[in-house]
Amino acid sequence: KMIYYVTPTYPRPEQAPELTRLAHTLMHVPRLHWIIADDQPICSELVLNILRRTNLPFTHISSPKPFIYKGTNFPRGVSNRRAALTWLQENVGEGILYFGDDDNTVDLQLFEEIRNTKKVSMFPVGLIGGYGISSPVVKNGKVAGFFDSWPGSRTFPVDMAGFAVNIEFLKPTATMPYIAGHEEDKFLVSLGLQMEDIEPLADNCTKILVWHTKTVKYKKPTVKINLKQLGELPKYRNF
Ligand code: UGA
Ligand code: MN
Repeated sequence: KMIYYVTPTYPRPEQAPELTRLAHTLMHVPRLHWIIADDQPICSELVLNILRRTNLPFTHISSPKPFIYKGTNFPRGVSNRRAALTWLQENVGEGILYFGDDDNTVDLQLFEEIRNTKKVSMFPVGLIGGYGISSPVVKNGKVAGFFDSWPGSRTFPVDMAGFAVNIEFLKPTATMPYIAGHEEDKFLVSLGLQMEDIEPLADNCTKILVWHTKTVKYKKPTVKINLKQLGELPKYRNF
């Protein structure tokens, strides 16, 4: 089965390094189709160049967030993930869907594990929340509950990186809401997912194969250096 790796992304100084690191992981994975969903009115040239250099099969689509979503606690990557979902529903009949953010860190073993997902598989995500891990808890081979520092009245308190979905299990009603913190739960509920449907992976959810890494944001310099001494500076670009 093909894995459809859906990555929402948006422009900022950290974008090229995040996508480069992710690209260099995905290039090791057989039968993977990378869907990059750009939070932009048009597909970014920088992103397209990175995609082209991977030699992976890819789809590059753009769908910017509505203008009302500004500030700090807005739902991230929803409009673009929705566009990717629609693309999958219209173009792909079978395979595995995985929502892989542009800044996460993934072990290659994860891809082998999710490839056989029948409906929805789940596994631990490292470096997340107050507990440093978010994971389903498995009892007798079945998911019995969730270990997550923010239950937040969610049916499935999991991170976006903590599950994979068989595309045949995607309903036409499958959607992701614009509600910060509830994107993954409401998406899984929209699939009609039941607890007993969940397939625990990664050694009964004991092995961490994906991490919610965060890159420190670029800061403006606080000291001035004498640029005149250097003469004319080159025009720096990504590659
Ligand atoms: C966490 C989850 O891992 C996300 O999947 C979830 O969408 C997000 O919380 C949320 O609930 O809002 P976090 O690390 O806090 O993610 O957020 P970011 O990494 O900043 O953004 C998640 C994804 O959306 C990234 O791939 C990012 O590139 C993308 N994004 C972010 C956009 O497409 N547009 C934005 O304006 C911001
Ligand atoms: Mn992130």
